[in-house]
Amino acid sequence: MNQIKHVAIIMDGNGRWGIKQGKTRNFGHEKGIKTVEMIIKETIKKKIKFLTLFAFSTENWKRPQGERNFLFKLLEFYIKDKLDSLNKEKIKIKIIGQKIFTNKLNSLLNYAEYKTRKNKKLQINIALNYGSKNELLHAFNKLKNKKKKITIRDIKKNLFTKNTPDPELLIRTGNTKRLSNFLLWQIAYSEIFFEKKLWPDFTAHDYNKILSKFRKTKRNFGNI
Ligand code: IPE
Ligand code: IPE
Ligand code: MG
Repeated sequence: MNQIKHVAIIMDGNGRWGIKQGKTRNFGHEKGIKTVEMIIKETIKKKIKFLTLFAFSTENWKRPQGERNFLFKLLEFYIKDKLDSLNKEKIKIKIIGQKIFTNKLNSLLNYAEYKTRKNKKLQINIALNYGSKNELLHAFNKLKNKKKKITIRDIKKNLFTKNTPDPELLIRTGNTKRLSNFLLWQIAYSEIFFEKKLWPDFTAHDYNKILSKFRKTKRNFGNI
């Protein structure tokens, strides 16, 4: 049976879900929070130590300002509302991606990271203004004046995910088979599960089914 230390998720399909309900895309984003809460609960239950959630990509700035602002407000309300309980649950919050939001949101995110920094039960990496190419460029630029040859270790240490083991599995909901610039280095050997359901429809049962299937997968890593 394969062990799971780290699950990464591309939470996709909120907008389509909202429209399908005859409401707005933002209605779907709001509903998506419930799935996030369920995933956190199940991940703790399964004693998985790292969870990375793709919340806003470097490409998502192309969306209309109204939707962007709604997403940032939702994040702000969520953190304000839940930070104490996340902290009590011994959850460590880490933002991956560059914090270039309003001063208010940047400070709140810094505060959430600081307050939860010593927690050891589950680390949640929230990928925000995150793009894998941007992350790699950031690492290469930091390393470019190094005298010696760059090693794999050097690169790992300079990614936003430093101190996080590579995810054993990546899940993308929303019926789309692409990676959308997410963790390209880190998922070199991850098992990938593309899920048809839209994020707000994704249930604990669906999540657990994927975890069980993963546990039974034969992972070769190039061997036989
Ligand atoms: C959520 O799903 C992902 C975010 C960028 C917040 P989408 O907003 O991409 O929903 P769809 O894919 O348009 O349905
Ligand atoms: C990926 O979803 C980003 C997040 C889930 C935050 P998108 O909906 O932005 O991806 P594309 O644009 O369809 O590839
Ligand atoms: Mg999408």
